Amino acid sequence: MKLTMRLGVRSYDIIIKRGVLKRVGQLVNLNRRVLVVSDTGVPKKYIKTILAQCGQGVPVVLPQGEESKSLARYGEVLGAMVEHGFTRGDAVLALGGGVVGDLAGFAAASYMRGVAFINCPTTTLSQIDSSIGGKTAINLNGVKNTVGAFYQPALVAADPDTLKTLPERHFVNGLAEAVKAGIIADEALFELFETEDVCENIEEIIYRSLVMKKNVVEQDERESGLRAVLNFGHTLGHAIESANHLGDLYHGECVALGMLPMIEQPSLRRRVRAVYKKLGLPSRIRYDGDAICEFIRHDKKAGADGMVTVVRAPRLGEARLDRLTMDELRAIVKEGVR
Ligand SMILES: NC(=O)c1ccc[n+]([C@@H]2O[C@H](COP(=O)([O-])OP(=O)(O)OC[C@H]3O[C@@H](n4cnc5c(N)ncnc54)[C@H](O)[C@@H]3O)[C@@H](O)[C@H]2O)c1
Ligand SMILES: [Zn+2]
Repeated sequence: MKLTMRLGVRSYDIIIKRGVLKRVGQLVNLNRRVLVVSDTGVPKKYIKTILAQCGQGVPVVLPQGEESKSLARYGEVLGAMVEHGFTRGDAVLALGGGVVGDLAGFAAASYMRGVAFINCPTTTLSQIDSSIGGKTAINLNGVKNTVGAFYQPALVAADPDTLKTLPERHFVNGLAEAVKAGIIADEALFELFETEDVCENIEEIIYRSLVMKKNVVEQDERESGLRAVLNFGHTLGHAIESANHLGDLYHGECVALGMLPMIEQPSLRRRVRAVYKKLGLPSRIRYDGDAICEFIRHDKKAGADGMVTVVRAPRLGEARLDRLTMDELRAIVKEGVR
């Protein structure tokens, strides 16, 4: 399956196909210096598959985990490019999850003011979510995604076969973003989760999720308005993620929990819970509603007037932006816990 992101001169293709990792060189020029950025969790065989297609491939393997989205690792990646004489005509290829994609993408955006960026996402989350949108970033002083750039790739090649080696919980984690896409914009996608086998339909699930994000991003590339609907589940999800800082919930799991109170119909909420159960996503968590609301108030999303914008789903396939007072938010958050 192929999707073309239409962003004028920054247009690019996203290929979602089993086995595409072996054919990246047929889709984009790898016959140059290519910095292949991956991490220690990415199976070596994928790195070999890519290097075999590169004219002059330079592998950089970072320690796995969010900590690699740091200024120090960013410097290392750029340093490797200087050391190997990378010029403006060369390329950076990300081979891994969102961590590798965000870091490598930012390195590509900034090295010599921008070299070609090729993204080969290998986690469910990165195939479903971060392969579209052009956001790249690193963390700084403990704050996530503080420094980065909007930078579009030259090509995204997502090979669903690579998900076979992903630990089950990471596989499921990324699906939460696809469930989100279904709830806010694609009834058929949501129903697919209810009735079909997820592994058998993974290509379709990735594709439909990306189509949803594509439609939104093409209309609002730099997140000035409409793109805010993609934050469905995230305002509360981020608060849960932070409150759970020392716990062990993944991003997608927090988003899954964060979506529930923002679903207005109890009947739809029940259906969503049933899907979570089928997939293995958490559907209930005990949290302190006041502490969560306090976090949201402090988070950048709370305006000077004390109002917060949240995304709510009035019914399946629809999203709406709501400006709420803290009291209104508290009531929703507390009710959603039950
Ligand atoms: N740019 C965006 O639009 C965007 C969107 C969402 C998330 N993100 C970022 O993405 C990051 C999270 O991404 P993630 O969930 O992919 O995490 P991740 O990149 O840390 O990958 C999860 C783990 O899976 C391992 N792994 C990767 N591919 C594998 C494979 N095929 N087989 C076995 N193991 C494999 C990795 O080594 C890592 O340990 C966060 O930093 C988040 O901020 C960015
Ligand atoms: Zn997310």
